[in-house]
Amino acid sequence: MSRVKGFISFEGIEGSGKSTQVKLLTGYLRTKGHTVIETVEPGGTKIGTKIRNLLLEPENHMDPLTELLLYYASRAQHVREVIYPAILNNTVVITDRFTDSTVAYQGYARGLDLSFINALDEIVVPDMKPFLTFLLDLDVEEGLRRNRQAQKEDRFELETIEFHTSVRSAFLQIAKEEPERVKIIDASKSAEEVSMEIIKVLEESWR
Ligand code: TMP
Repeated sequence: MSRVKGFISFEGIEGSGKSTQVKLLTGYLRTKGHTVIETVEPGGTKIGTKIRNLLLEPENHMDPLTELLLYYASRAQHVREVIYPAILNNTVVITDRFTDSTVAYQGYARGLDLSFINALDEIVVPDMKPFLTFLLDLDVEEGLRRNRQAQKEDRFELETIEFHTSVRSAFLQIAKEEPERVKIIDASKSAEEVSMEIIKVLEESWR
């Protein structure tokens, strides 16, 4: 799988501040003259947004395999409709979550087979990985507290602390396995401080 330079993902537990940081980095890169799109998973397309609603509505009791396949259905559409064309057009793509979320949530936390997820990923996203992934790392209880304050309550926010703790450990494990691509950022700091750190890491890595 090759890392694609204009492709950046953000990952992290609930409430880690990804969407704010996606916006701040998009704004920064635009001031530097780059053409940038910001996008999100699940979602990013009309079909993906419908799948997102199915996945996140708290009343949908879902089998883990259905859940996995819906994330990949959203991703298949997203990659073909938005991400590949943008990259071919020299547009920088910044996505709020990508494959690492599936590995962490459906693989490690739900316990689905990691080799099955990897095989599915190779079919849905052939030969493409983000060049850089910012892992916004935060204490689980703090993340859930932030989301409660923002009145955000989807199907995943209702999961147990143990579930979210295993998601956090999974992300840290992925970062350990791929230190060149996945950069751990301390998300407990202010949004401005986190953004400055991200920009620093990006400038160093893009050199
Ligand atoms: P968020 O965009 O508000 O973070 O919500 C997306 C939720 O979906 C979040 O709880 C993480 C979860 N998720 C997965 O479980 N697997 C995936 O592959 C992705 C992209 C997200």
